[in-house]
Amino acid sequence: MHQLCIVLDFGGQYNQLIARRVRECGVYCEILRYDTPIEEIRAKSPLGIIFTGGPNSVYDEASPHIGREIFDLGIPVLGICYGAQLMAYTLGGEVSPCEHSEYGMTETFYDRSDVLFGGIALPESATSWMSHTDYVSRLPEGFHITAHTDNCPAAAFCDPARKLYAVQFHPEVNHTFAGRGMIDSFLKNVCGFHGDWVMDDFIARTVGSLRERIGDKRVILGLSGGVDSSVAAALLSRAVGRQLTCVFVDQGLMRKDEGDFVEQTFTKLFDMHFVRVNCKDKFLEALRGVTDPEQKRRIIGTEFYNVFWDEIRRQGTDGFFAQGTIYPDRIESGRGNQAGHGSTAVIKTHHNMVKMPEDIQFAGVIEPLGELFKDEVRRVGEMLGLPYDLVWRQPFPGPGLGVRIIGEITEEKIHILQEADAVLREEIRLSGIDKELKQYFAVLPDVHTVGVMGDHRTYDHLIAIRAVTTDDFMTADWAHIPYEVLARVSNRLCNEVEHVNRVVYDITSKPPGTVEWE
Ligand code: XMP
Repeated sequence: MHQLCIVLDFGGQYNQLIARRVRECGVYCEILRYDTPIEEIRAKSPLGIIFTGGPNSVYDEASPHIGREIFDLGIPVLGICYGAQLMAYTLGGEVSPCEHSEYGMTETFYDRSDVLFGGIALPESATSWMSHTDYVSRLPEGFHITAHTDNCPAAAFCDPARKLYAVQFHPEVNHTFAGRGMIDSFLKNVCGFHGDWVMDDFIARTVGSLRERIGDKRVILGLSGGVDSSVAAALLSRAVGRQLTCVFVDQGLMRKDEGDFVEQTFTKLFDMHFVRVNCKDKFLEALRGVTDPEQKRRIIGTEFYNVFWDEIRRQGTDGFFAQGTIYPDRIESGRGNQAGHGSTAVIKTHHNMVKMPEDIQFAGVIEPLGELFKDEVRRVGEMLGLPYDLVWRQPFPGPGLGVRIIGEITEEKIHILQEADAVLREEIRLSGIDKELKQYFAVLPDVHTVGVMGDHRTYDHLIAIRAVTTDDFMTADWAHIPYEVLARVSNRLCNEVEHVNRVVYDITSKPPGTVEWE
């Protein structure tokens, strides 16, 4: 359907980022393992191939290698970091250990007559992001150097006749000045991509294929109120309207008024059957007296699926089951492509992918967003008319406020935390810093402290403010919220939220802390 770029994964940490950048250039791409058979690659007729970086050295026997034939397909190749070294090594060049390994922002000098670096707003020298301990010390025949740094003579090199390009630095990373322009140049000017991957087409095409596949059958979707399942619901609603049933389990651990907001959105704005299962009491009962974090998580998870699958059985399983799985979920769980390969990165069971009980059998499983990255999912959501607050919702853990109430969970504590969290979110939004923070929320540590209110001594709850900035949630920095904002939040929490008499600010980064407190 679309022109295809293949991102060959050699295990680098930025492989998904490379694929996202390619998509941002309007080019459809798939990530395949480095050892995908060459016939399979040829059969997909890609217009371009990108080798990702990798944690290895080409001289390490265990490191991922590739046969020469890939360079004889006549398909342009761009090698990045390890991918660049591998290209040089495989074609007869030489790779050596660096005298001074380069890491981080590095002044780089470019030959702007090169197709990758000309025609974009790139000065003769600019910073690039480097991360390597080996370097290409001799080029293969037919190649010439197109960029260098003080420590790396071949920071970029190419053989234009064979359309082979290589960069030692990471153009996909924001720190590389004009890096996106370089990727775009490779795709458009070397490979000849037209940029035919646009979300308008995606919606029309997906709605068409969903209608065809579903026919007059029913579809059931588990809706969490998170971005992915919400966009999947909106898309399915557009495709099959009332043949869609969304099951929304409200365990009472969502943020203030969130359950009602989700219900309103999907019953007022979209055509579908919407089933809300309210089971707060059941959850509170199961959680009574439980304080151990792991046990709390287990109970919430188990109860959730019990309630969910019971409702699914009630609704009937005569049609399809849909879920909001997105492309990174599939990559991370080892279902990255049609061939059944996963990425070389850690393969794990992803929390978004639901394991179905054996007695439940549907005609099939539908994952309408299975090809998309998160940014693309958000764009589709906006185009389908989902409210801003849903599309740009911050990540919210499956166990909900359950992991933000330390110790036993009670109705009263949920209420205090919901109110406190709503105040915090409102102030952050009003101050305009919400876009800079990846996640911000209130925590109820179940600590009572002494305070004074008028003439009275109080002994009430402490609220902790947690706010982080991060790229990928693997590491995170505590966010530097301006003092004035903190002052307003603190003031309002103590004045407006009953049973709160003290506010503290969590200034722990991850690691050593995690984002959530439990
Ligand atoms: P941590 O606390 O591990 O959180 O630093 C990293 C990110 O993951 C979210 N998180 C969860 N998401 N189910 C989820 O769907 C969970 O059990 C869960 N625990 C943490 C957390 O909110 C943060 O965005």
